[in-house]
Amino acid sequence: MGNNLTEEINSRKTFAIISHPDAGKTTLTEKLLYFGGAIREAGSIKGKKSSKHATSDWMEIEKQRGISVTSSVMEFQYNDHHINILDTPGHEDFSEDTYRTLTAADSATMLIDAAKGVEAQTEKLFKVCSMRGIPIFTFINKLDRQGRDPFELMEEMENLLGIRSYPMNWPIGMGMDFHGIFDRQTNRLEIYNPTNPSHVEIKETTGPEDPILDELIEPSLLEQFREEIELLDVAGDPYDEDRIINGELTPVFFGSAISNFGVQNFLEHFLRLAPAPVGRESDEGYIHPDRQEFSGFVFKIQANMNPKHRDRIAFLRITSGKYSQAMHVNHVRIGKSMRLAQPTQFLAQDRNIIQEAYAGDIIGLYDPGTFRIGDTLVEKSNFQFAEMPHFSPEHFAVISVKDAMKHKSFEKGLQQLTEEGAVQLFHTFNRYPEQQIIGVVGVLQFEVLEYRLKNEYHADIRLERLPFSIARWVDGENSELEQFKKRQKNLTLDRDGRIVALFDNEFQMRTAQDKYPELTFYENSFLK
Ligand code: G4P
Repeated sequence: MGNNLTEEINSRKTFAIISHPDAGKTTLTEKLLYFGGAIREAGSIKGKKSSKHATSDWMEIEKQRGISVTSSVMEFQYNDHHINILDTPGHEDFSEDTYRTLTAADSATMLIDAAKGVEAQTEKLFKVCSMRGIPIFTFINKLDRQGRDPFELMEEMENLLGIRSYPMNWPIGMGMDFHGIFDRQTNRLEIYNPTNPSHVEIKETTGPEDPILDELIEPSLLEQFREEIELLDVAGDPYDEDRIINGELTPVFFGSAISNFGVQNFLEHFLRLAPAPVGRESDEGYIHPDRQEFSGFVFKIQANMNPKHRDRIAFLRITSGKYSQAMHVNHVRIGKSMRLAQPTQFLAQDRNIIQEAYAGDIIGLYDPGTFRIGDTLVEKSNFQFAEMPHFSPEHFAVISVKDAMKHKSFEKGLQQLTEEGAVQLFHTFNRYPEQQIIGVVGVLQFEVLEYRLKNEYHADIRLERLPFSIARWVDGENSELEQFKKRQKNLTLDRDGRIVALFDNEFQMRTAQDKYPELTFYENSFLK
């Protein structure tokens, strides 16, 4: 049983793809699912921008906009591996959920458009991953089109993200001249065929100097390729698996997701290098994944996936042990035992009821309102996993209810939505009358909030946008903090009573930091 449990866990990889919209995340995900046989035709989850919906059309906003408001999980098998891809919503539906989803991943794949390089959203998501120290793999996409020089892209990663890179393969040409990729680990050449890109011709070589390459690649491109490889070998970072696992060195892969070129090469190296599920810290120390006892934490709550039932689904990352059907667990925060009836797992776009699941897997639990983001469920013990972080919102508004008679249901709805983690709620404390301020990471959340309070709680609200774009959790010596509380404008308290300062811009924030050098300004509640 013990061995079986360890084997099951070790066969799992749970990761997220982080990218800026349009880099090709949907396309890459689709190809990966296709390799795993989870979808019959590449293209079938692509409906998200068309009238066919990728996941669920559970909310009017989704239907009207043709976007998926919340992230989902996709699971597939490849050879002996069991792979869970956590989707991180982009576009207008970028929200705190996107960040929190990353807390459930053991590694991340950073997808970069070769023509655009590191873009804003990738940078934000990268920061969250690097804060957790998880390994980050890089896929540089769209090599079938003319893009930027690969060295320049690697330099940009280092300058903007502070991560060194090791190209696992190297492109020969690009755009019209794209000839393929050369695997630096296996010395294998994968030849790109523009008229039939999914037909990949593979040549084993003895290395970049192998004369066989002279027969296959035109001289000018080959000369450039050999020079570049030499430069990488001499001046580049050496291959170092420890640094990869610690998130200090990112293995880089080149390819073209749309042509399904380089995707399998990436997948196979990824499966070899990416970590099996790792444990998490709790108030009783580190919880190892192959501890026999089942445990997990809720990292996301998704409401109304089925509008007919008004249900909520709590997404639980299993941290240790095995889930078996209808098992009893402790809901540690509320101190109650409960039966986990009918959890679901997510296979491509379908939901299935599951019989068993292991550490690393994500299961969806029916939630009648009993779960909060960060809740711990555990078979017998009573430990709790480390708190789920809140991230700095970027948009703020004062919220109030239009009809005072609806005050009670408004407050209830607001509490519920804060618990789900859809929005953050702050209270002003150094101004009268006290105001409630809503903070969101993506502006669409304001609409979601307005819609849901009206439809589920019958409360019409007023939202008055505020000029702030940054929140910082502030901590330090009591006397310093008291001075700060007296003098600083725009201070609020979060749900747990922690001081949060709001700023219009970076300049304002730096001024405050300079003025109070003894205080620490945290970017998220996690770091406190
Ligand atoms: P996203 O989920 O990251 O937002 O990106 P998505 O996969 O939807 O891809 C964004 C656009 O980039 C799509 O084009 C897609 O076809 C294209 N694309 C993805 N991978 C590659 C690639 O390897 N090479 C090239 N040349 N293009 C790629 P679109 O015109 O916006 O949509 P569609 O009409 O093709 O669906």
